[in-house]
Amino acid sequence: MTPLNPEVTKFLATQPLKMFIDGRWVEAKSGATFETRDPGEGKVLAKVAEGDAADVGAAVAAAQKAFQKSGWATMPANDRAVILHRLADLITKHADNLAQIESLDVGKPRGQAAAFDVPHAAQTFRYYADLAVQTRRREPIAISGFDARTVRVPYGVCGFIFPWNFPFLLVGWGVAPALAAGNTVVIKPAEDTPLSTLYFAKLAEEAGVPAGVINVVTGFGHTAGAALASHTGIKRMSFTGSPEVGRLIAEACGKNLVPVKLELGGKGAAVIFDDVNVDAVAEALAGAVTLNAGQVCCTATRWLVHEKIHDAFVKKATSTLAAMKIGYGANPETNIGPVVSEKQRMRVMGYLDRGMKTGAKLLLEGGHAEVKGYEQGYYVKPALMTGAPDNVCAREEIFGPIAYVMKFNDEDKGIELVNSSAYGLANSVWSADLERANRVAERLVAGNSWINAHNLFAHGMPYGGCNLSGCGGGVLGPETLADYLRNQTVARPLA
Ligand code: NAI
Ligand code: MG
Repeated sequence: MTPLNPEVTKFLATQPLKMFIDGRWVEAKSGATFETRDPGEGKVLAKVAEGDAADVGAAVAAAQKAFQKSGWATMPANDRAVILHRLADLITKHADNLAQIESLDVGKPRGQAAAFDVPHAAQTFRYYADLAVQTRRREPIAISGFDARTVRVPYGVCGFIFPWNFPFLLVGWGVAPALAAGNTVVIKPAEDTPLSTLYFAKLAEEAGVPAGVINVVTGFGHTAGAALASHTGIKRMSFTGSPEVGRLIAEACGKNLVPVKLELGGKGAAVIFDDVNVDAVAEALAGAVTLNAGQVCCTATRWLVHEKIHDAFVKKATSTLAAMKIGYGANPETNIGPVVSEKQRMRVMGYLDRGMKTGAKLLLEGGHAEVKGYEQGYYVKPALMTGAPDNVCAREEIFGPIAYVMKFNDEDKGIELVNSSAYGLANSVWSADLERANRVAERLVAGNSWINAHNLFAHGMPYGGCNLSGCGGGVLGPETLADYLRNQTVARPLA
């Protein structure tokens, strides 16, 4: 196991870690702190400033001032892009530190954070910085009788509340388009995983992002988060997390008539036809459902397997999952790290229990996993369940390494089963017959339909959900930049 970089040790050394407001590192006004844990060891990793409504107030005021006076909102997009590329350069330069911090705080395998989360986030800043340069801010309106144009201007202060499963990557998805458009931001990271966002703020400071443009308030959801969502100084809001909290955020924003983006959970299906390479698809889906210990909102957790290949498929998936190495995130051999918290482990266990009590069966037994040397960590074994399509484990998001397997034999019935979900984030179709795969992909009701793969992300390819999975336009697409610009019409009658 490679030791922590000196830079990471240094970052964690001066505790409690402070928040970043108006270009300064500050304690909470109340002086309170909270703890974030290393879920792999179950130990306290760092004490962090516990911000609340008062700190959110200071951060929003700083962001308002920066919007009006720092020049960020009014400088040419090109000048902002220079700074955002510098920030992306620093993310790349410190990628190893960021991957270590993310792995420690979330529990995820360090190699996965280094290969995906961190470089992907750096690229998100570059993508939106470049897109903003190419985006026309003034469009003349070709219309008789008026000299008229549309100007596209940033909104002002944008609020962001993030979850704990991909803290760093989601900061990129969320704030990069807002910043590239010229807005200023207040970020409330999840209380379980605030560290990479604080490190990000350090890099933003170094990159020359003006004071007050990026503010980070660490703290709890019902205090700091609720204060941010209901603050009247916020002009646009974005939330990623559970549908339950998403509703609260939407209510708060509704009261203030503030537009909101909601990226919520999912219960993604994989529809596997009988003409696939069974072993290869079973391996791919075993990988998908264990990615980030299953804490991925869009991953495939309902597997609809054609009855002709069902037994062979389950056999291969079972052996693949059983062979995966559960372990500490910094161990290079680890495939599956711990889940993020004891609360999350109890949630996963609770679902297994409720599912079984209401008639589901286990094809591969899951439950608590003991990892030698890390007995206090929050480890969970992968599991495969099966049973009726209305079982709680087939309907609700578990957010652990568990898939619910169901047989099907008819295309229409398969589609109907997929679409019976209350969610609508992402599904995949697996078939050698591309005509069929494309046909089915278009009939599945969700923000994303993937073919012969699951969990596909690329800059420029919009990602979002419908139904319980969210609303408000999604992320990662060119439209996301437009979401952070409001249109203003300027018109004069021609005499
Ligand atoms: P959560 O929705 O409570 O937490 C997400 C964020 O919302 C955190 O930053 C939290 O501090 C904040 N928050 C909580 N209550 C708030 C409130 N009243 N006002 C404003 N902000 C608030 O998610 P939780 O409880 O950690 O996880 C529960 C389940 O949610 C998971 O098991 C999973 O099913 C789902 N989830 C989905 C995610 C996704 O990527 N779509 C991410 C995280 C969780
Ligand atoms: Mg943590």
